[in-house]
Amino acid sequence: MSGGRAGAGAGPATPEQAAWERRRDGSGGGAIAAWPYSGAPLLLASRPRKLAKEAKVRIGIIGAGTMGIGIAHAVAISGWDALVVEPDGAQREKAGARLGDVVSSGVSRGKLTQAEADGALGRLSYHAGIGELPEGLDWIIESVPEKLELKRAVLAQAEGRAPRFLASNTSAISISALAEGLSAPERFVGMHFFNPVWSMKLVEVVVGALSRDDAVEAAVDAARGMGKEPIVVKDAPGFASSRLGVLLGLEAIRMVEEGIASPEDIDKAMTLGYGYPMGPLRLGDLVGLDVRLAIAEHLSGTYGERFSPPALLRDMVAQGKLGKKSGQGFYTWS
Ligand SMILES: NC(=O)c1ccc[n+]([C@@H]2O[C@H](COP(=O)([O-])OP(=O)(O)OC[C@H]3O[C@@H](n4cnc5c(N)ncnc54)[C@H](O)[C@@H]3O)[C@@H](O)[C@H]2O)c1
Repeated sequence: MSGGRAGAGAGPATPEQAAWERRRDGSGGGAIAAWPYSGAPLLLASRPRKLAKEAKVRIGIIGAGTMGIGIAHAVAISGWDALVVEPDGAQREKAGARLGDVVSSGVSRGKLTQAEADGALGRLSYHAGIGELPEGLDWIIESVPEKLELKRAVLAQAEGRAPRFLASNTSAISISALAEGLSAPERFVGMHFFNPVWSMKLVEVVVGALSRDDAVEAAVDAARGMGKEPIVVKDAPGFASSRLGVLLGLEAIRMVEEGIASPEDIDKAMTLGYGYPMGPLRLGDLVGLDVRLAIAEHLSGTYGERFSPPALLRDMVAQGKLGKKSGQGFYTWS
């Protein structure tokens, strides 16, 4: 008979419910309708790098692949402990060797002193399983392959180590979907790093439906502490970066298809005309055209026609022209 929410009118029962209702109603950010974080954007922008020089910060990183290695490097050279979990023994060794090389190259390029490099290497430790992590870490950042069920299982195990906050480095999976099954989803956010982590400044802090403001703020502080520039983004397909970047890339491919200009000249239009560091077609070649196609298919499911992959992109992927990794894409790579 009532048809309404139980307890409607009595106000939210918990702070988490209140935060969720603010987000759902779009009432959390004043002029910005659905701002995902209830603090003011400018406040976030001006927050100092608080954590870096304070008491010892310990961060667990799960998965020592391309991204996990980069995140561990950022953590360790910031003066924090990086506890790296990698079950594959050969990969664990490879990660240790790679981190040694990257830290040493920081010394040869004058970015680190030898003492800083030695300190960073001493703060890195390697573990075969999540159960080896001590309880009560400041953060655990999950960076295992992009598979929903695998990530959910890993996050549930990580939560069992009782970290203060938990994050996923997913590039495309919904943070709210990953949070299902967690007992404290309010302490979970996305922290989307970019590859290669040692040279890319951006971290997208992705706010799930249940992420609490203190978790968002802690993620912003942690990213700044690692020398990164965080942006705060609502949990929506493509977050902010892929949604804009992929759209530009798809339009550039349509322009090649229509014979508007050569790939080189389309890229020049953006680098010389708009000041982009790299044109969208060259960037697509670097990311991998198969990866671009998969993201476009994923986003077109939500946003419709404007993300539909152009026929040329499908053809190139079918022919094995994947960009740099296959030697041929919009450019020839040797
Ligand atoms: N590669 C990129 O350019 C990029 C950029 C941004 C975000 N991401 C995201 O980062 C995440 C990791 O990507 P990647 O490219 O580093 O992958 P990767 O395959 O290089 O590394 C994943 C690592 O996780 C390990 N692993 C698998 N199962 C595990 C488990 N149960 N516990 C602990 N470790 C486990 C694997 O052995 C592997 O070493 C993905 O979600 C991806 O979407 C990738």
